[in-house]
This record gives sequence, structure tokens and C-alpha cells, in this order.
Amino acid sequence: MKLSSWIALLLSPSISLAADPNATGSVIVQENATTTASNGSSVANPSAFATTISIDLKQYWDLFVGPVQTATINTTVEPTPVPTSELIPPPPLYYAPFPTGHQSALVTKNESWKFPHGFYWGVASAAYQVEGAAQAEGRGPSIWDVFTHRATYLTLTNDTGDVGDNHYYLYKQDIARIAALGVPAYSISISWSRIFPYGRGQVNELALAHYDDVINTCIQYGVKPLVTLYHWDLPLYLQNLYGGWLSEEIVDDFAAYATVIFQRYGNKVSHWFTINEPIVFCSEYPLPEGYFADVTIPQKHQQYYCGHHAILAHAKAYHIAKSLGIKGTVAFKNNGGYKIPLTNSSEDALATQRAWDFNEGWFSNPVYVDGDYPSTFKTWASSIGLEFTQQEKSMINGTADIYAHDAYTSSFYYAPEVGVSACVSDPTNTLYPGCFNSSNIGPTGWLIGAASDQYSTWLQSATDWVPAFLHYIQETWPSGGIVVSEFGFSEPYEELRTSLADIVIDPIRSMYYRDYMQAILIAISEGVNVVGCIAWAIMDNLEWSSGYNTRFGLQYVNYTSFERSYKASFFEYVNAFKVYAEDPVVPIFVPGK
Ligand SMILES: *[C@@H]1O[C@H](CO)[C@@H](O)[C@H](O)[C@H]1NC(C)=O
Ligand SMILES: *[C@@H]1O[C@H](CO)[C@@H](O)[C@H](O)[C@H]1NC(C)=O
Ligand SMILES: *[C@@H]1O[C@H](CO)[C@@H](O)[C@H](O)[C@H]1NC(C)=O
Ligand SMILES: *[C@@H]1O[C@H](CO)[C@@H](O)[C@H](O)[C@H]1NC(C)=O
Ligand SMILES: *[C@@H]1O[C@H](CO)[C@@H](O)[C@H](O)[C@H]1NC(C)=O
Ligand SMILES: *[C@@H]1O[C@H](CO)[C@@H](O)[C@H](O)[C@H]1NC(C)=O
Ligand SMILES: *[C@@H]1O[C@H](CO)[C@@H](O)[C@H](O)[C@H]1NC(C)=O
Ligand SMILES: *[C@@H]1O[C@H](CO)[C@@H](O)[C@H](O)[C@H]1NC(C)=O
Ligand SMILES: *[C@@H]1O[C@H](CO)[C@@H](O)[C@H](O)[C@H]1NC(C)=O
Ligand SMILES: *[C@@H]1O[C@H](CO)[C@@H](O)[C@H](O)[C@H]1NC(C)=O
Repeated sequence: MKLSSWIALLLSPSISLAADPNATGSVIVQENATTTASNGSSVANPSAFATTISIDLKQYWDLFVGPVQTATINTTVEPTPVPTSELIPPPPLYYAPFPTGHQSALVTKNESWKFPHGFYWGVASAAYQVEGAAQAEGRGPSIWDVFTHRATYLTLTNDTGDVGDNHYYLYKQDIARIAALGVPAYSISISWSRIFPYGRGQVNELALAHYDDVINTCIQYGVKPLVTLYHWDLPLYLQNLYGGWLSEEIVDDFAAYATVIFQRYGNKVSHWFTINEPIVFCSEYPLPEGYFADVTIPQKHQQYYCGHHAILAHAKAYHIAKSLGIKGTVAFKNNGGYKIPLTNSSEDALATQRAWDFNEGWFSNPVYVDGDYPSTFKTWASSIGLEFTQQEKSMINGTADIYAHDAYTSSFYYAPEVGVSACVSDPTNTLYPGCFNSSNIGPTGWLIGAASDQYSTWLQSATDWVPAFLHYIQETWPSGGIVVSEFGFSEPYEELRTSLADIVIDPIRSMYYRDYMQAILIAISEGVNVVGCIAWAIMDNLEWSSGYNTRFGLQYVNYTSFERSYKASFFEYVNAFKVYAEDPVVPIFVPGK
């Protein structure tokens, strides 16, 4: 049969798809073995069939994703020096320079604060959000290509990562631009489906060569590369083959991928992150129906299966790193906001504890405390058959050198209307199994802090709670130090501004960064071992299902010309280190000089 006929057939609702376990790119096509008779009962389907078609990578893309866009610039661009005119700081928020005659209130340096020697700071990106070059040099599709191309109801604007920021070809200039401001670290993620187009099997040498150059370019500019192995872009093939994170099979595939990366880049990388925000990528399950091979795990249980395997995959990768003699720290990136009980009632205290347990604790207790889930979560997980064996617990416990948290905001927590214990015994309660409720509005009726963009309603500027948050992490999940591995802010309505001069002055984001850095300084002065922080993001990018209009960049990206421009907030962020870091901030303009 011709490929075009297969495509028509594959889109038929009675067909299910799986990929072949030998990872060649073949697809097993199966028609339902049962069909529905006119009286509604299920009967055997006389025309049921199963067959295998063998396809190449391009055909795999065409079948599951469809046509993708390409950028005009499709070869690696050499960097040019950043003009010094772009490095002039904007009019300041609170501190006082330039030019004379202007007056602003004096803000003095707080002598109790400092970022100690060795504190590392930088900016971050993630492969699918910035790279573009979707099919370049042998990249295989990930589930996100399907989300953005096929399950478009998930996305606000129908945006895709096909072209992104074209960082895949423009990374040299992007690294030069952060070096020019003196940023000493850049946190990237590697695209698994570039390295293994099918998630397993044959390694793609072109992709390894690409990341060789990204990492070497960072080093050449004096910027430490920090690397995340998995930032949500699961190779599509593994989802179709065995349900992705829903199957324990992923543990070995992730381990094989991690091994290749650790062996290749080893000690060029000082800080490794295995998986990014498992709470979030696991909550993507169940995936949209009809675009991926069917799975049998009950929908409400799926995210917890995902989490279970994510913990095992992380732990296994940690041990591989150690066995390979990796010297850099290894951890996973957790995420969440600080949880404030709405009232002083014991019910709200109970609900708040459950919120910690069902979010951060779900992943952190196994890794940082005792190899197992927190007790409230364990009760739930056991009830759906998710228990770690004794051997797994010992394998998991202690598998992180530092505590990495993506800590953007904070919220209030309170008990369900029926009370915590009534909820826990009622699976039909909408808050079951967590049985906690939450709000961004506090007991006084005010929002917890200034709102961000309309499409990131989860985020307010709640930096006053950051010191308490950092204390909580240090006390609850002790480690070799805390890194705030992501924090950042989407300036409200930034996407509606049309003039560059208007766009790049972003006062709410600037205040967020200033206040956040002071909050970290307070925590450090109180004895919390914060060892680093990484701002999200190096530049505007695809904010997942919110598209390109929700902007988190410290640089503006013009999606017509692909030019980047520093925003005022970037200078505010760097200024915190000029004032408080024991290590000097050293801008570098030209590589090798
Ligand atoms: C197979 O048939 C059942 C019953 O008619 C239906 O619920 C299910 O969605 C079908 N599966 C596929 C892949 O079409
Ligand atoms: C996978 O490979 C094995 C060994 O070569 C072979 O026996 C088996 O038929 C293959 N399976 C599929 C689905 O192609
Ligand atoms: C429904 O129809 C099917 C096929 O015609 C038949 O085999 C089955 O017995 C019927 N079931 C009922 C409950 O009538
Ligand atoms: C790059 O762009 C040129 C001109 O549009 C095109 O001919 C070429 O096929 C493209 N190459 C890749 C790898 O996309
Ligand atoms: C996204 O695509 C769908 C389907 O093509 C279309 O109905 C919808 O209007 C599009 N939405 C936007 C915001 O462009
Ligand atoms: C909770 O108790 C503390 C200490 O007694 C008090 O300061 C605070 O106002 C109380 N909070 C609420 C929301 O009642
Ligand atoms: C888990 O590891 C920590 C140190 O990382 C150790 O203090 C603790 O006793 C271990 N717990 C168990 C149950 O093995
Ligand atoms: C959660 O809180 C909201 C807002 O107060 C309320 O409307 C909702 O009913 C609560 N949900 C449950 C299940 O208690
Ligand atoms: C973006 O680039 C295009 C093409 O160069 C230009 O016309 C437009 O003015 C730029 N937009 C902004 C906001 O600078
Ligand atoms: C200076 O820092 C200390 C320690 O964090 C803090 O208690 C104090 O309020 C700060 N002073 C000012 C003026 O911000």
C-alpha cells in the first residue's frame, strides 16, 4: 500500500498504533479486534488485522506529526562582537547613576549581604522551547511535536517549536550575548530525540557533534555549561512503544541515554540535572486520546505511574554518573511554590502538609530522606500498586548532591469543604487523592503579589516568601546546598507592545528579579546554604501550551528577524551580583581574548 493510503488509514478511529520493539522505525498497525454491534454490544470484528509497515524517520514524522516549518537561517551562524552600545544599562529601578541632574532616592548596599565565593548564577533554556530545527540533522519527533501539531486544542495560539528561537543555529551568538554581560553559567537541556531519534537504538552522531560545539562554545566564552538530560521532550517512539513514562521500560532507555551523554561530555559540565519538573511532565498524563498508542492504566493513576518510573530513572542515572567518575553535582530539578496555610486551623495545617507531600515530597522524600514516599502519599500510591521494593529504596535514597528547585512563586493552602479525612475516604471528591485546596488570594482578600501575564495565572511576584521557602527546603530535604534552578516572570501584556523601546523596559519583571535576589541574600545571611541560582529564561521562547505570547525572556526575541535585545530586567539581575557577589562579574566580549 502507498504511504498516503496508510496515512488515511492510520487516522481512522478504529486503528491503534504501536511502534516495534526493535526500534527500527517500524509501526505496528492494528485494527480493533472488537467492534460495536447495532444493538450496542461488543462483538468480534471480522475484518480485524494486524500488520507491520517499515518506515524511515521522515515517514515517521509525516505519519505522526505532519509537515514542519523550517527557518531561513539553517546553518550555524558565526558570532559577532556584541556592540558596546547594547551594554549600556537602562535607567535604574532604585540605584543611582546616570546622567547628572536626575534625582532618585538613595538605596544603600546592605553590608550584611553577600553571594559567597563560588556562588554560581546564570540563565536557562530548554531544547524544545528554543532550538527549532525540528527535523535537522536527524532529530526524531517528541511527544511535544505531536502536542503542538496535532493536539492543537492544547495550545493557546497553535504555536509550534519547529523554528523556535532558531537557537540550534544561533547558539554561538546567544552565548556571546550572555558572556558580554558577564553571566558565568548557562543551563541548557539536551534533546533526547536528537541523540536517539527513536529514544533508543542507534545513536545520532550529528546531534552529539552539535552539543559538543554548544558546550565547547560556552567554555570558550568562560560560561559554565549546566546540562539537563530531560526537559519534557519524550521521544515519541517510546510513548507509542510502551506508553513512555507509564512503563518501567523507560528506566533502562533513560539510563542508556544518560550513559551516552555522561560519557561524551563528562567533566566539561559542572552541574547535571537528570529530569526537569517531574510533577509537571507527569501531570501531562493521560496524554490526549487518539494521537498516541493506547495505554491501559486508569487515567487518574497515570501521573503517579509516571512519577514512580521517573524516580527510578533519575536514581539509576545518578548511579551511572558516579560509576563513570562524573565530578559535577547530579540532582533532579523539582518544582513548586511555597505553601502557606490559609488559616491557623489544624485542618488547613493538615491540607498544607498533604500539598507538600503530593508535590515536592512525592519526589524529594524518596531521594533526600529515606528512599520512600511521604506517608500520606505512600498510602495513596500503595492503593494503586506503586510501591518501591527494599532494594529500590536503597537504590533511590541519597541520589542527589544538591537540592535543585524551580521556585517561582507561592500560594495559600486549605482543606477541602468536607474536611481532609472525609475527602481522603471519598474518591469522587474533585480534590482526591491530594485532598488539599489552594488559592493565590490570601486571608486578607488580596492577591499574594503582583500578577504576571494573563496566560500564566499560576504566577505572582511572591518573593517575600522565598526566605521561608529556602529554610523549609533546607530543613526538610537536607542536601549539599540549594540551587534555585529556575525562577522568572512573565511581564503582563508584554506581547501587546509593538515598539522595541517600550518592550525592553519591563518594570514588574525587574522588580521581581531585584526582590528575588534580595530574598536569596536574606536567606543566605540567615544560614541557608544557597549555592546558586539560574534565571528563566535566557530569552523569550515557546512557553509550552501558552505559546510565544507569554514571555519569560531576559532578552526580547523578534520572531520576524530573530534578533535578540536585552531587557532592563537582565541588567537588574546582573546588578545584584555586581553589588553583592564576592566573585567579580567579568563581561567577555570576544572569545579567546
Ligand atoms: C476499539 O473498540 C472499543 C469498543 O468499540 C472502543 O472503545 C475503542 O476506542 C476502540 N479502540 C480504538 C483504538 O479504536
Ligand atoms: C525483533 O528482533 C528479533 C530478533 O532479530 C526478531 O525475532 C523479532 O521478530 C523482531 N520483532 C519485530 C516486531 O520486528
Ligand atoms: C447483539 O448483536 C450481536 C450481533 O448481531 C449478537 O451476537 C448479540 O447476541 C446481540 N446481543 C444482544 C444482547 O442482543
Ligand atoms: C536550508 O535552506 C536552503 C534554502 O532555503 C534549502 O535549500 C536547504 O534545503 C535547507 N537545508 C536544510 C538542512 O534544511
Ligand atoms: C488553531 O488551529 C485550529 C485548527 O486549525 C483553529 O480552529 C483555531 O482557530 C486556531 N487558533 C488560533 C489562535 O489560531
Ligand atoms: C496565625 O497565628 C499567628 C501566631 O499566633 C498570628 O500572628 C497570625 O495572624 C495567625 N494567622 C491567621 C491567618 O489567623
Ligand atoms: C537515606 O540516606 C540518608 C543520607 O543520604 C541517611 O541519612 C538515611 O539514613 C538513609 N535512610 C535509609 C532509610 O536508608
Ligand atoms: C476549593 O476552593 C474553592 C474556592 O473556595 C471552592 O469553590 C471549591 O468548592 C473548593 N473545592 C472543594 C472540593 O472543596
Ligand atoms: C522585528 O523585525 C522586523 C523585521 O526586521 C521589523 O520590521 C520590526 O520592526 C521588528 N520589531 C520590533 C518590535 O523591533
Ligand atoms: C539588611 O540585611 C539584614 C539581614 O538580611 C536585614 O535584617 C535588614 O533588614 C537589611 N536592611 C535593610 C535596610 O534592608
